[in-house]
Amino acid sequence: MTSRLPFVDLQAQRRRIGPRLDAALARVLAHGQFILGPEVKELETRLARFSGVKHCVTCANGTDALLLPLMAWGIGPGDAVLVPSFTFVASAEVVVLAGATPIFVDVARDSFNMTAESLALGVLAARESGLTPKVAMPVDLFGQPADFARLEPVSRKHGLRILSDAAQSYGGGQGNRRVGSLVAVTSTSFFPSKPLGAYGDGGAIFTDDDDLAEALKSIRMHGQGIDKYHNVRIGLNSRLDTLQAAVLIEKLAILEDEVAARDRIAGRYSQALADVCEVPQVAAGNASAWAQYTILVENRDGVAKVLDADGIPTAIYYPIPVHRQEGYRHFPIAKGGLPVSEELARLVLSLPMHPYLEPADQDRVIQAVRRAVGQQHPYRR
Ligand SMILES: Cc1ncc(COP(=O)(O)O)c(C=O)c1O
Repeated sequence: MTSRLPFVDLQAQRRRIGPRLDAALARVLAHGQFILGPEVKELETRLARFSGVKHCVTCANGTDALLLPLMAWGIGPGDAVLVPSFTFVASAEVVVLAGATPIFVDVARDSFNMTAESLALGVLAARESGLTPKVAMPVDLFGQPADFARLEPVSRKHGLRILSDAAQSYGGGQGNRRVGSLVAVTSTSFFPSKPLGAYGDGGAIFTDDDDLAEALKSIRMHGQGIDKYHNVRIGLNSRLDTLQAAVLIEKLAILEDEVAARDRIAGRYSQALADVCEVPQVAAGNASAWAQYTILVENRDGVAKVLDADGIPTAIYYPIPVHRQEGYRHFPIAKGGLPVSEELARLVLSLPMHPYLEPADQDRVIQAVRRAVGQQHPYRR
């Protein structure tokens, strides 16, 4: 009986940099500045440099990293934010938390990312609902940056700001630029299983905008002015713990190497599986951070069951598009509907993906997927 593979193996990474992490944590325990200690500033400086932007403002999690810019811009009742339906719920949740209305738009089947056509149709739906469209929030799903070259002209035409949800793509890039610098404002998550993950929650916002960076720092600290007891706006408590910053500094040092390893594994998977299922497509000029490696396959649940019996864990991101979720059904959707989001929710299956997946284990996944798909009737375009 062969052992069960992990879906993500954080322990393998720990074996690589464990002593450095332990030393970094010990330094924080010794200086005791657990909130906004020196490691937070150091991490922000390193992340800003890594992404090639002026400012990185860290916060408590990736959800807040989306909420904070919306609050800073004063997005609220009567405003609409255009969000893909095929995403993690947090992308839409923050819009509602800000008091605005999410308008769900569709994605492309080959990239899983927001299309410019559906964005324009979403703007129409917003106006028909009596709302003012203010922000487009493309999501870099599974690690691949969204198609900003097409989304930006539509956003400009309709006066929309772009807030990039890069929770899954930190470490990826487009052309010669890294995620964080692809649009005016980018948010990411340091959830432990993300390409750059902490040992708990964390998030960050990237921008060249000095005023926005100042506002974000104020909002993450209860809307502080000159100090914590001088409150100039409504804020919240959303700081990144110093301990998490210390962990992230060490992990950032190996991120490029880890993303390269993910990319090699993804390439190997794709080469070996392209004839039995639809494999992920990375657009020319894009570099994915490969938060997930996701195939499209008919009889997805049957395939997952066979793989599970073979000791290969899989995950379904996402089984229900957000516009079909109970809490979100009443919000408007782009005119023409969201057929691709609906179809993807039925077909997606994510395979084990992490930088330390050994070639023998990659082969095990590949052989098991080929067998499972063969048993369940191969999917054909
Ligand atoms: C696309 C997307 N947006 C937002 C989030 C929210 O991040 P967090 O869990 O750090 O709040 C996540 C991850 O969980 C995500 O995958």
